[in-house]
Amino acid sequence: MKKSAYSVAVVGATGLVGGEIIAALAERAFPVGDLQLYASLHTAGEEVSCGALTVRVAPLDGAHFADTDIVFFAAGEQVSAEWITRATEAGAIAIDTSPLLAEDPDVLLVVPEVNAADVSSYADRGVIVSPDAVAIALAVALKPLHDVATITRIVVSTFEPVSGAGRAGIEELQQQTVELMSGRSIESAVFPQRIAFNALPQIGVLLAGGRTRDEQTAVSALRRLLGDAELPVSITRVRAPLFYGTAVSVNIETATPLTAADARELLRVAPGVLVQDADDEQYPTPADAVGQDATFIGRIRDDESANVLDNTRKGAAVNAVQIAERLIRDYV
Ligand SMILES: NC(=O)c1ccc[n+]([C@@H]2O[C@H](COP(=O)([O-])OP(=O)(O)OC[C@H]3O[C@@H](n4cnc5c(N)ncnc54)[C@H](OP(=O)(O)O)[C@@H]3O)[C@@H](O)[C@H]2O)c1
Repeated sequence: MKKSAYSVAVVGATGLVGGEIIAALAERAFPVGDLQLYASLHTAGEEVSCGALTVRVAPLDGAHFADTDIVFFAAGEQVSAEWITRATEAGAIAIDTSPLLAEDPDVLLVVPEVNAADVSSYADRGVIVSPDAVAIALAVALKPLHDVATITRIVVSTFEPVSGAGRAGIEELQQQTVELMSGRSIESAVFPQRIAFNALPQIGVLLAGGRTRDEQTAVSALRRLLGDAELPVSITRVRAPLFYGTAVSVNIETATPLTAADARELLRVAPGVLVQDADDEQYPTPADAVGQDATFIGRIRDDESANVLDNTRKGAAVNAVQIAERLIRDYV
């Protein structure tokens, strides 16, 4: 498909993700020849700039994608379900940011720092999934460690912003904050319970067994990206009253020993990662990550609860003999 400029479309152009895609195309000087922007009737007609181009957003209903090279889908799962096939049948490559196809093993799921070479097989289905933010952050941070020490277990808790639920999520936190500060009662429409001055241990619908769908999607994406379909992964996703920036706490176990110092050195040279791990409270926060493309990493440390002893010596035999030694020394 090598060309000097490409015909690009963004579906969901007036949303949070669509707006960032348009900004990134301009910032990264992506060779956009022709740009089509689509949204629903609510915002169709707005003018949006992408570098030197200014484009009027059109209603998606009129899209046909003939002669379009790449279509970014950023309008939610339902729109992706209805429109991806139309785009690929018209000959375009679809890049989907929704969770619609994230668990379909026949669809490519790509994080360029991790599996950029897989993009070469895009023609199989004409669709590439960009996984959600948690899976991206975890894959970027953990792949360099997995390659060296083979990760055998991952336990994660997240602290995720309201922008993960789009513009409506931002508006709900703003509104609830103002109402509560003014002593008035609040309503929750986007989130299952009050989000202002609160934290909700539920992102996505709850499934049988207690996991949420978003937790399950992130687990499955991470397993695919790390190339281990059976990898034990436990993720608890928590919505925090932040506007932007996701924080993630991760604990890993590895097959071969990996010290915090080893991990720090591996991550310092890993693509897409910025280690901020000094002793003087110089750890990263979600606010630091806003507007940045790197995954920031800090507070790397050895897990003192980890099973680092020799299980048959101190873990059994030596311990037993030590008990006998204490017995004969003091009691028998
Ligand atoms: N927010 C995040 O952090 C994040 C991260 C990773 C992936 N994603 C995914 O990105 C997608 C967009 O999320 P977002 O946060 O950007 O949502 P958003 O801010 O609510 O934006 C949604 C966009 O989709 C458009 N849209 C909605 N329904 C439409 C329809 N029926 N036809 C045409 N356009 C329609 C909206 O246009 P109107 O305003 O005109 O309705 C708007 O431009 C979702 O699939 C989400 O899962 C989001």
